[in-house]
Amino acid sequence: MAAQTLDQVVNLCKRRGFIFPGSEIYGGLQGTFDYGPLGVELKNNLKRLWWQHNVYERDDMEGVDTSILMNKYVWKYSGHEDTFVDPLVDCKTCKGRFRADKLNECQCLLHPKLKPGECEGQLTEPRAFNMMFKTQVGPVADDESFAYLRPETAQGMFVNFSNVLVSTNRKLPFGIAQIGKSFRNEITPRNFIFRVREFEQMEIEYFVTPGVDEQVHEDFIKDHVDWWVNVVGLSRENLDMYEVPAKDLAHYSKRTVDLMYKYPIGWEELEGIANRTDFDLGSHSKDQSKLGLTAKVIENEHSTEKLTYFDHVTNKHLVPFVIEPSAGVDRGVLAALCEAYTEEKLENGETRVVLKLKPALAPIKVAVLPLKKNEPRIVELAKSIKNTLLAKGDMRAVYDETAAIGKLYRRQDEVGTPFCITVDFQSLDDATVTVRDRDTMGQIRLPIADLYGYVRERI
Ligand code: GAP
Repeated sequence: MAAQTLDQVVNLCKRRGFIFPGSEIYGGLQGTFDYGPLGVELKNNLKRLWWQHNVYERDDMEGVDTSILMNKYVWKYSGHEDTFVDPLVDCKTCKGRFRADKLNECQCLLHPKLKPGECEGQLTEPRAFNMMFKTQVGPVADDESFAYLRPETAQGMFVNFSNVLVSTNRKLPFGIAQIGKSFRNEITPRNFIFRVREFEQMEIEYFVTPGVDEQVHEDFIKDHVDWWVNVVGLSRENLDMYEVPAKDLAHYSKRTVDLMYKYPIGWEELEGIANRTDFDLGSHSKDQSKLGLTAKVIENEHSTEKLTYFDHVTNKHLVPFVIEPSAGVDRGVLAALCEAYTEEKLENGETRVVLKLKPALAPIKVAVLPLKKNEPRIVELAKSIKNTLLAKGDMRAVYDETAAIGKLYRRQDEVGTPFCITVDFQSLDDATVTVRDRDTMGQIRLPIADLYGYVRERI
């Protein structure tokens, strides 16, 4: 049985050290979560697989890691200062603040069983609430010395378009990829790590000649659906494509297709794939004289770059169109966890919780377990097997002797470890061990010398 409720996954994450509420000992900070010892491994594996597919396995992609703090004019010309808003309503009775378009996900503060507006409380008219966090830069606090925490990683790639183009001698089409933190002051963060105020994104800005954008958009949609299914292990029937209606498109988008995942909370966005046209490069290279600004202001505060591309075929400068696949790392982690979470009834009536993660995603690939922890020769052999596997440098192996073997198997099942290796008395005689498969619980006997190759092939 797969996860029926988000709580099952949340409980497992807390219990086994995947994800904890942020600042918990001080009562938490809404919309923040901390990744624990296993969570950080899972998240890093997801990001590594994404980078592998989208950067290393392509000949047309470059990676960057740009600053979270950017000149405030980036956000003016990107359109975020004016349009990165959600509709906010206040309840005059309970003083709660809610996202007007998500009232069905909110609870009245006085009557938690009711939605805002269903109670006696009166809601104000919606007003625009900008979701960018502001912070002060430098020691002087005045009206000008502020910056925003970036709400998307994308702008770091747009403002570096010329730097990457020139330094890598790229020709269109090519892309820039980045994984990094983004921040949004969400009005109603909720559903665990699904909607938070600090999260990570895996984004690509793929630059093309206008005219081929629509086909490239289709190609990315197909490629990314396949990646979530084949590499991350999401079931195809749990993924859907949502054509964002024109009235809901972001200010920069000509067309956006959202990849939706069937979380236990319902169908929700996992990744957005947008055709951003020439909006961003165009608006960062606007002819400043048209902005009606004085020369001094222009010099000091506005982009003087023209973010264009010289097309040797037409001998003209053009502003490339951009296709942008933008996925949430945390939403990817949550989807992988929901997909993998399984409860099985065993013959003895017990329930086995097992995370059937793709081996490549699993935080621990191999657990080496001694059948007897008070037999020094078994312990020594088990530790040396673990160290030999670790020394190969491409898989996390752990040694565990803190419980009886049956309990150790269950613990590893729960955190998704695909293979448990048990060292027993026979191992001392013939240099073989048992290898237990997480999903089938089947066991085979293998020579120690063959272990690395066996596991490697399967992860
Ligand atoms: N650069 C385009 C962009 O940021 P978006 O649809 O606003 O587009 C892209 O965000 C992805 O980032 C979403 O599909 C989602 O996976 C993730 N995301 C957005 N807001 C989030 C939040 N508050 N918490 C967690 N993930 C979020």
